[in-house]
Amino acid sequence: MIIGIPTEIMHGERRVAAIPETVATMVADGYEVLVEEKAGDGAFIPDEAYIGVGAEIVAEAADLYARADIILKVKEPQFNETYGCSEIDLMHPGQIIIAFLHPASPVNHDMIRKMAEKQITGLTLDGIPRISRAQNMDALTSMSTCAGYKGMLLAAEDLGIFMPQIFSAVGMIKPAQVLVIGAGVAGLQAIATAKRLGAVVSAVDIRPDAAEQAKSLGARLIETGVPTDLAVGTGGYARRLPSEWLQRERAVLQEAIKDKDIVFCSALVPSQKAPVLLTREMVAGMKPGSVIVDISIDQGGNCAVTQPGETIVENQITIHGIKNIPGMLPVSSTWLFARNCVNLLHYLTENKAIKLDRTDEITASILTTIDGAIVHEAALEAMNES
Ligand code: NAI
Repeated sequence: MIIGIPTEIMHGERRVAAIPETVATMVADGYEVLVEEKAGDGAFIPDEAYIGVGAEIVAEAADLYARADIILKVKEPQFNETYGCSEIDLMHPGQIIIAFLHPASPVNHDMIRKMAEKQITGLTLDGIPRISRAQNMDALTSMSTCAGYKGMLLAAEDLGIFMPQIFSAVGMIKPAQVLVIGAGVAGLQAIATAKRLGAVVSAVDIRPDAAEQAKSLGARLIETGVPTDLAVGTGGYARRLPSEWLQRERAVLQEAIKDKDIVFCSALVPSQKAPVLLTREMVAGMKPGSVIVDISIDQGGNCAVTQPGETIVENQITIHGIKNIPGMLPVSSTWLFARNCVNLLHYLTENKAIKLDRTDEITASILTTIDGAIVHEAALEAMNES
């Protein structure tokens, strides 16, 4: 079987789905590997390094898509300016794609439908369950670590004030006030980064365990009052709140964000559309010059104003909806991503080919489209709602 590693074409994306070390594992597993010319440039990996471990360099993306049985990439299929069509149009029936497909996000619904219609088998990396045997395949955790760190640095960069408290001969400047909504993998990393920069950090999470971890990193907790049985579901994951509780949480946040300089949004219920926790009216009540980083945008966003993939300024408030923050940390994020991917591939491989056992927990939760149908539950649910 042939694996194709295309160049990522999302704006500003510098990651690539494989590094020479992981290509070597694929070759050892019996795959042929095609890498698009210059695919590793953004992460400073030259074509020669891939050739050195047995990959073939392919000049044209269309050629790579046509020849490969499995496409391994970072971001969901995009519009390819060179060919004037979507990357899906370059794919063929029966082909497998492994990537962050984010099938529950409304902006991706048409793309997912098109994949099913075209008989493409889609495996989404954001579906990897957070169970111990899948830890080394969990690309979302790896990328969330990158997004928490780099996302907070982006916000700090945009602020017109210092993050730490500053003493000067003419007086003292107070530290920046930061609120992190959703203290999961990304949120905890964002808290740690903001603390290291000297800001005063508050955090909110409906899961008591997450709130406790945020506290241990030095964040002040903001209580939502959501009962634990409503907040926590099977496996200890967060649950989608009933609308009455969502309203109550919004009321708490409305007060909390008024004096904040940075609001970092990373609240997510696994495989679901992200809860909308900040409305346009709430954002309008924030301080001029403040910054929102809404990293949950791949699942629709926690803030109603966020524009997917864009940075906008509204009422003097900057709102980041950047979808590929880890791409701004290309070397570390590529190293992590490529290793997660090859571990998944190795797990799915039997006799030099991908074998999908739909009764397996990991396979079942990443399978998005197969045999012409959409099988991802959260995607189907979100499609019915929209
Ligand atoms: P996670 O599942 O570890 O954490 C999400 C947290 O949100 C959980 O602790 C959960 O309890 C909490 N939560 C759920 N509902 C809530 C509510 N109503 N109020 C407060 N907290 C709530 O997720 P992780 O890995 O930290 O990812 C967070 C987000 O970051 C995801 O949407 C992910 O896709 C995104 N991400 C974005 C990137 C980008 O470049 N924009 C890159 C990597 C991740």
